[in-house]
Amino acid sequence: MAPKLGLVGGGVMGTAILSRLLAQQIYRPDEVLVSEPRATQRAELEAEYGVLTTESTPLAAEAEVLLLAIKPQIFGVIAQQLMRQAGQFSEQLVLSILAGTPLSHLETGFAAQPIVRAMPNTPATVGAGCTAIAPNAYVKPYHLAQARRIFEAVGQVVEVPESMMDAVTGLSGSGPAYVALMVEALADGGVRAGLPRAIAQQLALQTVRGTAELLAQTGQHPAVLKDQVTSPGGTTIAGVAALEQAGFRSALIEAVRAASLRSQELGKL
Ligand SMILES: NC(=O)c1ccc[n+]([C@@H]2O[C@H](COP(=O)([O-])OP(=O)(O)OC[C@H]3O[C@@H](n4cnc5c(N)ncnc54)[C@H](OP(=O)(O)O)[C@@H]3O)[C@@H](O)[C@H]2O)c1
Repeated sequence: MAPKLGLVGGGVMGTAILSRLLAQQIYRPDEVLVSEPRATQRAELEAEYGVLTTESTPLAAEAEVLLLAIKPQIFGVIAQQLMRQAGQFSEQLVLSILAGTPLSHLETGFAAQPIVRAMPNTPATVGAGCTAIAPNAYVKPYHLAQARRIFEAVGQVVEVPESMMDAVTGLSGSGPAYVALMVEALADGGVRAGLPRAIAQQLALQTVRGTAELLAQTGQHPAVLKDQVTSPGGTTIAGVAALEQAGFRSALIEAVRAASLRSQELGKL
């Protein structure tokens, strides 16, 4: 019997999604078949998650839902291995997390099939990701609901037209690096002001996490929160003024823009 979920590529992101899908009982281990070339990785997946594994991509690719989590440059090989007739798997939903791989390219391997292109980010590995999804013309509402359910296992999901995927890449795809830099820089600031490194690191991290949580829970506009914590002639407005002088906001805007443009360029190669 065909597996319910076929995962092609049991690497970092594939495993992160798999572990959450199982933990949330969206699939049972015996409903999943993972195709993965490395024997050691297959053994680990079997031992840790109890899923079935195979070396054969075509076997996993017979599943009701096929999740592609291989490196983008492997896609051509996979498409060739599968060599499908147009419409042969017209009921199967294909999900791809391959960065920078457009639906038009995916359709060369999965002609006339419902395909959802998705762009998760690294926090997905701890269930706090955000994934943008873009469907092709064959995707029906129930496919989209299925895709949402799968990616909601690793965090939040937004649906966008495919034309926005480069912008998504520049913001949430690359964003974890910007935030990591910010946490590091905040901690450096604490050390410069006299704090021990470990305490500075803890305070920096929890300040970023706590502020994000506060904004998410209250739904407050960030400017409102900033105004609330800046008292006249106080410490915070002195810090904010220093950030403005250094072009902090423009730097972030430009970072998102530069990463989006780079994503566009890479998509054309
Ligand atoms: N990591 C992220 O934050 C992130 C975010 C968004 C999107 N993505 C996308 O997610 C995809 C996977 O990234 P990753 O970081 O998880 O990479 P990864 O850890 O290298 O995982 C890819 C896995 O696919 C396996 N593989 C290679 N050829 C295969 C084949 N023919 N059949 C089945 N499996 C095969 C690889 O095995 P070997 O190691 O033996 O080659 C590896 O285990 C990429 O397309 C990436 O663009 C990643």
